[in-house]
Amino acid sequence: FQTRPSWSEIYNSAATIFFIPVPDTPMEVIVDLLTKAKDKAVSCSTVPEELKGHLQKALDIASGLDEYLEKMTTQESEPLRELYEKTMSHDWDQVHKEGKTIFQLPKECITGHVEGQTLKMLIHMSQAKRVLEIGMFTGYGALSMAEGLPDDGLLIACELEPYLKEFAQPIFDKSPHGKKIVVKSGPAMDTLKASKNIPREKMWVLGGAGNIEEWKCMCYLSCPAAGRVMLRQGYGKIINTASMASLIVPHPQKQLSYNASKAGVVKLTQTLGTEWIDRGVRVNCISPGIVDTPLIHSEDLKPLLQRWLSDIPAGRLAQVTDLQAAVVYLASEASDYMTGHNLVIEGGQSLW
Ligand SMILES: C[S@@+](CC[C@H](N)C(=O)[O-])C[C@H]1O[C@@H](n2cnc3c(N)ncnc32)[C@H](O)[C@@H]1O
Repeated sequence: FQTRPSWSEIYNSAATIFFIPVPDTPMEVIVDLLTKAKDKAVSCSTVPEELKGHLQKALDIASGLDEYLEKMTTQESEPLRELYEKTMSHDWDQVHKEGKTIFQLPKECITGHVEGQTLKMLIHMSQAKRVLEIGMFTGYGALSMAEGLPDDGLLIACELEPYLKEFAQPIFDKSPHGKKIVVKSGPAMDTLKASKNIPREKMWVLGGAGNIEEWKCMCYLSCPAAGRVMLRQGYGKIINTASMASLIVPHPQKQLSYNASKAGVVKLTQTLGTEWIDRGVRVNCISPGIVDTPLIHSEDLKPLLQRWLSDIPAGRLAQVTDLQAAVVYLASEASDYMTGHNLVIEGGQSLW
């Protein structure tokens, strides 16, 4: 993958002097933190050489991982490469200033090469025929997934910004898979309400949000909307995101509304799970423990981290990867006999 500079290239290249990288992925955050820790250690004469060496080795490994994944992942198609380059070289600030987009869109929110190929693989493995994407941006994820769909597959991409349809469509038209994509401009909720004619058969529903994956307030709204489509087609899988806070009262932080809303998500899941199973729609939820996201490392929450860790039998926070297999399982036919279930993934924290 040649167009995107690797993290080490960004740090080392004079040509990128005006590009200030903001750590975004978990691995980029780790590299950033390790770089700061190593720099601090190197400049301090009292830090043992052994510790400096360990930090350098950890940094070397961490900074190579994203690059390794990029290299080892199946190459993207020519239209995807073009879409990526067009997105990265576009002046998004300017189009916003000209009033062409409602919001100032950060190009970093694009789905990347590795993520795109992973989505394509999941679509292909699950033999999905229909995909509903909420938040298309410039269509990198949409086209990646369309490449994994069969010839008669359909991907409906909801995108708030009409400008993005104009942006993506010419490249969709160049791809043999572009005909599977239908872009619906406007708020996704309006599209869902209006989409009475979404074809039957299995549908994957993907949200484009960054942190887990903001669903908490969407759930009450999206369950009925997605449910209507699935009930009509006679099959579907809804996976809500609840929380360990649906079972215990996490402490010492005070979060009444969060805990109450998560308990509500579980009851909503159980109720819809029983009311809709006879019409083919399974409703389950996952309850993650404390997930290792950038939010956890914010200055406000940092002091609580040690305390939380001592409450977790597994001795560590949950990684996003700890949740992925559960989501794949609940989305697949393997879990067809499961409904209204709250799948708890918290390293044992709710048991102590
Ligand atoms: C993180 S980006 C999505 C990235 C995209 N999936 C990709 O493959 O590159 C989020 C997108 O959601 C869009 N969006 C935000 N709110 C929306 C809404 N209510 N309905 C539809 N799209 C929305 C934004 O305009 C933005 O383009």
